[in-house]
Formats: sequence, structure tokens, C-alpha cells
Amino acid sequence: MKATARANSNIAFIKYWGNTDETLRLPANASLSMNLDGLHTETTVTWQQDEQHDTLTINGGIADDRALRRVSQFLDALRQRLGIRYGARVVSHNNFPMGAGIASSAASFAALAVAAAAAAGARLTERELSCLARLGSGSASRSVPSGFVEWRAGETHEDSYAFSVAPRVHWGLIDLVALVSSGHKAVGSREGHTSASTSDFQAIRVETAASRLDICRRALLERDFAAFAEVVERDSDMMHAVMMTSRPPLFYWLPGSLVLMDQVRRWRSEGLRVCYTLDAGPNVHCICLAEDANEIEARLGQVAEVQGVLRATTGGGAVVIG
Ligand code: PMV
Repeated sequence: MKATARANSNIAFIKYWGNTDETLRLPANASLSMNLDGLHTETTVTWQQDEQHDTLTINGGIADDRALRRVSQFLDALRQRLGIRYGARVVSHNNFPMGAGIASSAASFAALAVAAAAAAGARLTERELSCLARLGSGSASRSVPSGFVEWRAGETHEDSYAFSVAPRVHWGLIDLVALVSSGHKAVGSREGHTSASTSDFQAIRVETAASRLDICRRALLERDFAAFAEVVERDSDMMHAVMMTSRPPLFYWLPGSLVLMDQVRRWRSEGLRVCYTLDAGPNVHCICLAEDANEIEARLGQVAEVQGVLRATTGGGAVVIG
């Protein structure tokens, strides 16, 4: 009745923003990402036969009520689908700053889904685990498969899942996450998704997402960095345009984010293979080729607004480790 799983975070090249079904977390559009090796969560789940309530410890401390409620809600969905009637003891460790645009919820819910299923003795396929993880956080569905991963939008619980489009060794991409602020963000992505449709730009973003995903997938499979960089930056900018024009507006960019976006474009025009993408936070993910990573990291170190840099190569999928 006990199992531990590890899952990496992921960074989306084509973003997920907005749901067609809030409860099932069916996304408004398909998305494409890469897992981030080493930026992970490890979670142990123990189903407790004599307990009705769940407990949650994050990084050694008892989690607040809000976090526990979210995890319990997710466990309710799992209990219903796996036929379990007990409470769970959940102990989770993250090795990167939470809530600052490094998708901690993706790694957390992927690890939680995989550990909870393993602890219950359920033998589920990768696709089924991806669907379960999605119920906790949409992007968590993409942290279940390995390497470069696509999440098909789907219309039901069973057909909205992620799958690997290329193994982690396919292309030597590195994510240098330039930390502009490591504080917890004001409005989380969960609330953000619900307001996406209040922006007049969301409909056009969703309508054109499939074509950006096709371009991005092709560039990835052909290792065409110029085409990849153009579509990744455009897709990130379009998502932030939706965020900024939602009601209420969501501005995740800080002045430092803009400084970095400008620098990255300049460095690319000088020949370095690097592009930027930002999630629901101010930190700038600088996606680059391994050959250029040291030079870019050195340059990031010279930018006054950068408080630190995390480096990740392409990571594997979620695994049971104990
Ligand atoms: O999975 P959530 O609800 O944390 O949403 C993630 C949304 C973005 O990170 C902004 C985009 C993405 O596709 O990961």
C-alpha cells in the first residue's frame, strides 16, 4: 500500500491555456513540451486502511489547507477510478522553486498519480496514467511519458492524454531557466485557465494552435532550430497576449523578463541557437542547443536582472522508484 515515484517538470514549446471542461481538465488546444531532466518531484503515497483523511507534507513541512484540499480532490478522483476507500499519507519533495513558472504542479501531479496507482497495486498503462495525472494539473499529463511529448486535446477523459513524439536523445536541447523572481506567483495557472476565454484573443489563439503545433513538431523532428525558435517564441507571446487581455488581466512578465526576451532575440541574430518561452511566471526559459549552452549561461550571468540559472537537459518520464 506504499510506493514512491519521481517525475520531472516539463516546459511547453506550444502552450496549453484554457480548458473546454474545467473538471476533467480537457484543454482548449493540444500542446507540445520537453521534460526537464533533474527538475523533479519525488512523492511517496501510503494508502492507510484505518484512515479516512489525507495528509500532505511538502519539502518537510505540513502543507497548507489549500494545497491539501487540491491534493484530496485529486485523490478523490483516483479513489473513485481505482475503487479505493482509504485516506492517503502523501510525502512530497521538490528540488526546484515552486510557483515561479517552473511547472511544479506538472512534476507534482505526475509523481502523485504514478505513486498513488502503484501503491494501490493498479497496473495502468502510460496512457491511463497520463489521463489520471491530467486531472490534477493539465501539464502533468505531459510529465508521464518520456522525452519530447505531445498532449492531444481529446473530447473525453480517456482520449485526452500525452505521448512521446521523440525520445530524449533525439535532439540536444537545453533549457536554461533564468530566474527573474523565485517568489510565489500571485495568480496560479488553475485560476488563469478559467479566465482565458474572457480574452478576445483566446479564440484566435486556439484556432491557430494546431498549425503552430504542426510547425513545431516538424521543426523538432527535423532538428531545424530556426523554424523551432520562431514558432516557440510566437506561441509564448500569443499565450501572454491572452493572459494580459483577460478580465481580470494577468501580467506575468516583469521588467527583467522583457530585458531577457530582448537579449535572447539579439543573441540569436548574432548566431547563437537560443529562443525564449515563458509559462505562468516571470522566469525566462532559454531553450538552446547544447553546443551554445555554456556561452549563453555565461551571458545570462552578466544580466543584472538574473538572480540565478537552472540548467536542464531533456528528461525521462515518470517512474516508480520504490
Ligand atoms: O498545468 P497547469 O494548470 O499548471 O497549466 C500550465 C500552463 C502553462 O504552463 C502556462 C503552459 C503549459 O502548457 O505548460
